[in-house]
Amino acid sequence: MFHKNGPTFFELARQAMVSVERGYDLLAEKFDYTPFRTPDAILDRVFDGECSPGSVRSAVDLCCGTGAGLLRLRPLARESIVGVDLSKGMLERARVAAERAPGGAMVSLVQGDVLAHESAAPWGEHELATCFGAFGHILESDEPRFVRAVRASLVVGGRFVFVTAEKGPSPAELGFWTTHGFNAAMRVRNALWSPPFVMYYLTFLLPRATALLEAEGFSVRVSRGVFAPPFDRYLRVVATRRR
Ligand SMILES: C[S@@+](CC[C@H](N)C(=O)[O-])C[C@H]1O[C@@H](n2cnc3c(N)ncnc32)[C@H](O)[C@@H]1O
Repeated sequence: MFHKNGPTFFELARQAMVSVERGYDLLAEKFDYTPFRTPDAILDRVFDGECSPGSVRSAVDLCCGTGAGLLRLRPLARESIVGVDLSKGMLERARVAAERAPGGAMVSLVQGDVLAHESAAPWGEHELATCFGAFGHILESDEPRFVRAVRASLVVGGRFVFVTAEKGPSPAELGFWTTHGFNAAMRVRNALWSPPFVMYYLTFLLPRATALLEAEGFSVRVSRGVFAPPFDRYLRVVATRRR
């Protein structure tokens, strides 16, 4: 549908009719040829001026998928990096990608639900945590739990680096109608069909993300102008665990 090596419309439709975990297992082999993988243009700049090679002892990428973020984390970490994801299929791809990445940090992959570990994470506490392209899989009602899971994944002083937008598109933009239309269709699908497939656009936008993070003892720093067009509406956010 998006690329000759990517999934067809029917494969994507089938993926959306099962659980998130099973859906990504089905998609894993072709995921890197979809626009759902965080674009390199974002990942290539997200650590600019924030993290230099070897500057952290260890790092974790939550909802790591096929390892787009792990590729960038490995050179930054001196000792180890961990990828966490629900889907075994995605993790298998992530292992191959991360182990080929530059740097000597040890690579571990953990199959698990990030929302299941609010106070102590089995993947340990790290100096750096990231989560890219996955906020849409976290229901708004689960976002406080997600933020506690991020906190549990960091040492005091550790940073959570992520990308979001200040607000969604305006009704004058096509994106407004496609994202709201998609969300409406997903609500109908989830009302009629089980298991649910949680995927909604326009979640964890800056105002709400900041409020939730500050409530959990993070200080939040926002950088604008990090990403070039067409990604210039996105912001880099660094949330530091203070307690
Ligand atoms: C759109 S992909 C993004 C992958 C990758 N971070 C990237 O930027 O390309 C979303 C990933 O989040 C994972 N995921 C969704 N909900 C999760 C949860 N509660 N716990 C762990 N992983 C989750 C999915 O299995 C999938 O691999």
